[in-house]
Formats: sequence, C-alpha cells, structure tokens
Amino acid sequence: MTDFRNRRPEAIFLAPSLLSADWSRAGEQLIQLQNAGVEWAHFDAMDGHFVPNLSFGALFLPALRPHCNLHFDAHLMVSNPAERIPEFLKAGAQSISVHVEGNPHLHRLIFQIKDGGALAGAVLNPATPVETLSVLLPDLDFVLVMSVNPGFGGQKFLPLALQKIRDLAQVRADRDLSFKIEVDGGVVAGNATEIVRAGADILVSGSGIFGGDSIAENVAAFRVAINAAF
Ligand code: DX5
Ligand code: ZN
Repeated sequence: MTDFRNRRPEAIFLAPSLLSADWSRAGEQLIQLQNAGVEWAHFDAMDGHFVPNLSFGALFLPALRPHCNLHFDAHLMVSNPAERIPEFLKAGAQSISVHVEGNPHLHRLIFQIKDGGALAGAVLNPATPVETLSVLLPDLDFVLVMSVNPGFGGQKFLPLALQKIRDLAQVRADRDLSFKIEVDGGVVAGNATEIVRAGADILVSGSGIFGGDSIAENVAAFRVAINAAF
C-alpha cells in the first residue's frame, strides 16, 4: 500500500493535454515532452454532445504511439462511453476515465475498462460532490477532479476543486485506499504548488504546457512548482 503521507516530488506526474498541442506536429511535441521527463499524455475525447466541443476519437492514439513511450491517458467526455471504451482500449489507452455525470452504470463502465487491461478512473465535474464516489472508491485506480467545466482548454482554475482534492486525500488516508488523484483544467505552474499540497498526484495541463515559447521551459516551471509543495 502506498503511503501517501510520504509522497515525494518524483511521484507527481505531469499529463499534458493534447487538446492544446500543435496537431500538425504532435509527434514531435510528444518527443519533446518525453525528453523533458513527462510521464503521461492526456487525450480529451469530446463528442459535441456530452460537452459542447468536438475534438478527436481513438484513432489519434495509434497515430502518436510510435513517437514516444508516454503513458496514454484517455478522458472520455462522450454521451455513451460504453460504446467508446472498446475503441480506446484497442487504440492502446493505458488509462481511461469516465464521468460520474450521466452514467447510471458507472460500476459497469469501470469494470469494462479494468477488464480490458487499462487503469480506470471516474471523473467529477465541478458541481458533482466527492461523496457520489464513496461506494466505488476501492475499485478505482484514480479519480479525476475537474477544475473547470469540461469542453474547452484555456479556462481558469476553479478554486472549489482544491477542497474536493483535500477531501479525497482525506478519505483515501482514512479508508487506507490507493486511488490516485488527477486534476484537470486551468492547471498551470503558478497554481501547481497548492494543487499538489492539497493531495493531487497527476496534473493535467494543456495551455500551461503547450502555450508560450518552450515546452521544456514550461515543464521545468512545473517541476519547480511541484518541488515547492514538499
Ligand atoms: C477540458 C479538458 C482539459 C483541458 C485542459 O475539457 O478535459 O483536459 O484540455 O486544458 P487547460 O490546461 O488549458 O485548462
Ligand atoms: Zn481532460
């Protein structure tokens, strides 16, 4: 069992969101991320129905797989994830997360992902309380706390997410559970310290990683902020 009270900076992962990448040279950008020491790559699948925006489907993953060894993490913002999960498993997703909202059979979805050999996560929109996951927490590999309303990159971090992260970290300690806490939306180097202090293990960032002039400098700024949390 991981002892989360003795967390270390090296155990905090960065998960750049490909939504903000330059899609004409995403392979090259993944190589830069890997060289900068990044661990995960986060794929935001949006269907224009569950969320207002339309992004990409599972085929983006095998197109990028030859370029890097990063862990591929798929965040499904789609109305019928049961139909999409097999495609993302086949496409090589190593973790898949599905929303609590609009999914009455969340337990089934989580086991569809786990039985397919990937890590399974449940996603909480900003307005959804942590308590909705109480029953399912022992079965989850991670919980994804949305810190913006999903649909678009480049939005501002909602501070209400911090208390949700703290509450999840507290429940994890109290119940001796091992799920990780991933945070997504408006995460930048400037707020990463307090997000990690609250209990986050995996930081998703789109504009904070792909914005500006240098991916490597952005990653370095994140590492400074993460180290400052300890
Ligand atoms: C929002 C997505 C996020 C988003 C993150 O719907 O799930 O992953 O792309 O982008 P930033 O870091 O720019 O908020
Ligand atoms: Zn996401």
